[in-house]
Amino acid sequence: MSYAAYVFDAYGTLFDVHAAVRRHAGDVGPQGQLFSDLWRAKQLEYSWTRSLMGAYQDFWQLTEQALDYAFRRFPDVNPALRERLLESYWKLDCYAEVPMVLRNLKAGGAKIAILSNGSPAMLQSAVKNSALETIVDDIFSVDALKTFKTSPETYDLVTTNYRLYPDAVSFQSSNRWDVAGATKFGFRTVWINRNGLPDEYSDLGPSMILPTLNGLE
Ligand code: LAC
Repeated sequence: MSYAAYVFDAYGTLFDVHAAVRRHAGDVGPQGQLFSDLWRAKQLEYSWTRSLMGAYQDFWQLTEQALDYAFRRFPDVNPALRERLLESYWKLDCYAEVPMVLRNLKAGGAKIAILSNGSPAMLQSAVKNSALETIVDDIFSVDALKTFKTSPETYDLVTTNYRLYPDAVSFQSSNRWDVAGATKFGFRTVWINRNGLPDEYSDLGPSMILPTLNGLE
């Protein structure tokens, strides 16, 4: 079975959200991983609550607010790092296998796209930083809709733009909640379980689970 389009979540799936803190690990100190985890958790929480409330702010604003909260929860982390951490978020590393896997899928004739909560500017910067501009055909940002995943209309951005039925789209995400939303919408879904996490959302399971994007077809 091949798919007309392979669509990827950005953060955590193609780009390593913990790369920003890791790049400044020496300055952040021993609480770096917990700090980075909280930064990410709050960024996501804000996206869900604001979608439910109908009080959208773009993902960059939420990323800044989440970082400021993390600084308050970890007083030992020097807030003077704020600008450097934020700057690094625009240049997150992609995972090692990403360019080759995407290139191979594209060579097979499929469209390659990103569907992300990220703002268009954040996503363009990340794609450029990893030299993926010539591989990624389209970047779909939820900013066009002023709401976040897992709202069904966000997944519909892809099917509407590509004029495809959901089952012609293979959607990949490392975020299990995102896989649940995409499965509910009707995409074929692949959970990229990079961290070996336990499964959840058992009624909305993926078609496939892979530890990295290697082997995706
Ligand atoms: C994204 C976040 C949710 O890229 O990972 O949409």
